[in-house]
Amino acid sequence: MDNSLNVLLIDSDENSRSIIKAYLTEAEGVGIAAEFSDYDEGFNLAGNSGKCIVVVDVSENFDKCVNCIKHLKSQNKEAFVIALSNRASADVIIKVLRSGAKDLVAKPVIKTEFLDIINDLIKDINSTETKDTCKIISTFSNKGGIGKTSIAVNLAVELAQMSKEKVALIDLNLQLGDVATFLDMTPPFAMDYIADNINNLDEEELLKAMTRYKNTSLYVIADPLNIDKSKDITAEQIKNILTALKKTFTYIVIDIGTNIDSKTITALDFSDLILLIAIVNLPAIRSTQRCMELFDKLGYNADKIKLVLNRYMENEDIKTSDIEEVVKQKVYWKIPNNYLIMMSAINKGVPVNEINPDSNVAVNYKEFASKISDYLITQKLNKNYIREVRI
Ligand SMILES: Nc1ncnc2c1ncn2[C@@H]1O[C@H](COP(=O)(O)OP(=O)(O)O)[C@@H](O)[C@H]1O
Ligand SMILES: [Mg+2]
Repeated sequence: MDNSLNVLLIDSDENSRSIIKAYLTEAEGVGIAAEFSDYDEGFNLAGNSGKCIVVVDVSENFDKCVNCIKHLKSQNKEAFVIALSNRASADVIIKVLRSGAKDLVAKPVIKTEFLDIINDLIKDINSTETKDTCKIISTFSNKGGIGKTSIAVNLAVELAQMSKEKVALIDLNLQLGDVATFLDMTPPFAMDYIADNINNLDEEELLKAMTRYKNTSLYVIADPLNIDKSKDITAEQIKNILTALKKTFTYIVIDIGTNIDSKTITALDFSDLILLIAIVNLPAIRSTQRCMELFDKLGYNADKIKLVLNRYMENEDIKTSDIEEVVKQKVYWKIPNNYLIMMSAINKGVPVNEINPDSNVAVNYKEFASKISDYLITQKLNKNYIREVRI
């Protein structure tokens, strides 16, 4: 009993508290520490309670509850929140999970479902293994000059800004990558150093070896300064780096090179989402078709691949539906053509939102980052829980 995790129950409805308390008596490894009808009181105590589980009903005063969860997570990283709600639309779920809650359970709470969630959470909290919360997103095409680096860089910046969580951006164009130039960085350490030392770096040292972008939560691993060092980097090292980064980062964005080699395939295998980048012209579409054949051979699930049209202009000669038919994949996102802003960003070494946050490309990247993050959250939901809720 002494090792039990404390549960704090915050719910203004006494009846509903009694139900949860009764359910919790059947869960092993947890004990009710306190219950509150007053939300401020409950969240205040949770903020100072160290490792604990907070079960909170967010049905009423939803926005306030979401802000309280956010605040709690910034105060006490070891408070794990399960929200209960009588509304469980996709919008509600996403807002709650974005606030930092672990889960949302639809009311009326079904005992078996609640206990499954509590048991999974306890396992998760007690496990010292890598938590599967990190998501890897890569930009890929077997053609150069198509926008892979622009997209990887701007998405990574937006994901960091939006989530405030740690985001890693990795340049896998190991010979002459562009990420460091796109962000005007001169990294003291690059991929070669990290690859050589990955087994000896602890979390703090790994962060120090990466290059932080300005004052943000974005950390970069650039390509080696010396081209000769690139060929010594192995697929095994890439695997070790990604495994290590997954422990620390919420998102990892990889700008994958055009070479189809074992390093590329390792990165593709590790990716939760591959953004397959194309532009609207015949050679590019043919290449995209070939990439799809490659993914098919690699046995990837169709969900993992998202077709993105870059430099898109309305009234193109080739229709989107034609591309979809040839590539056999729906277009997931379109990024508008804006050469001036993109070039200006590259030449100044900043993301497009620093050139003009109101420009069509900057607004588009923000929406794109938000769509990807929502997608990854709902994908997690589909896999793990809220079996009843349709999203
Ligand atoms: N949305 C866009 N509109 C116009 N030009 C773009 C856009 N995205 C990228 N570009 C331009 O395309 C060129 C290639 O981009 P880059 O990101 O380096 O591609 P890749 O990494 O695939 O080689 C760059 O000159 C960049 O400015
Ligand atoms: Mg590139």
